[in-house]
Amino acid sequence: MTELERLAAEIAQCQKCQLARGRIKTVPGYGAADARLLFIGEAPGFHEDRQGLPFVGPDGQFLDELLRSIGMSREQVFICNVVKCRPPNNRDPLPSELEACRSYLDRQIEFLRPRMIVTLGRYSMARYFPNVPISHIHGRAKKIGETLYLPLFHPAAALHQPRYRSAIEQDFLKIPDLLKQAVPAEEDHPGEQAEQLNLF
Ligand code: URA
Ligand code: SF4
Repeated sequence: MTELERLAAEIAQCQKCQLARGRIKTVPGYGAADARLLFIGEAPGFHEDRQGLPFVGPDGQFLDELLRSIGMSREQVFICNVVKCRPPNNRDPLPSELEACRSYLDRQIEFLRPRMIVTLGRYSMARYFPNVPISHIHGRAKKIGETLYLPLFHPAAALHQPRYRSAIEQDFLKIPDLLKQAVPAEEDHPGEQAEQLNLF
């Protein structure tokens, strides 16, 4: 069992906040353990709660479409959420729930050590860019330490609102170049993980 699988098993037993009561399945996250690119959304919705997988409803189809637009698939990246259980009626997660769940995402990031983190929506953005409106900073990458962060609109908001939709589509197209910047040159040569992952 990998560290990520061990953590997923721990999350499956978690009762640290009230969202444990209403969930069908926990949604720890999905993707390649050696992914260089991590997407962080908000919380599981109806379909995610049933399947135990992130972004499998309409928002997820849109995310797959966006990944395809840059020649990528979800097998090459890791996708998760700030909160691992579905809030009732898809309400926003409460501060107490975000706090209770916080260490799981911290540990996932520690194990994954992604080069680049794309935040989807306000809640994951707020971990790295507190107190800034998303409309001011979406699509602008920022390096903090060794990691490059790119805040984007949430696919659910973008799906039905043309203004946000074209913003997320345009912002997504920046990812391949940013990813090249984020992965140091010495790692970017044939025969290593980058090739197996087909990222470039
Ligand atoms: N929206 C999210 O933020 N996460 C999911 O997993 C699905 C929809
Ligand atoms: Fe535990 Fe997070 Fe689920 Fe709350 S949302 S029960 S903290 S896994």
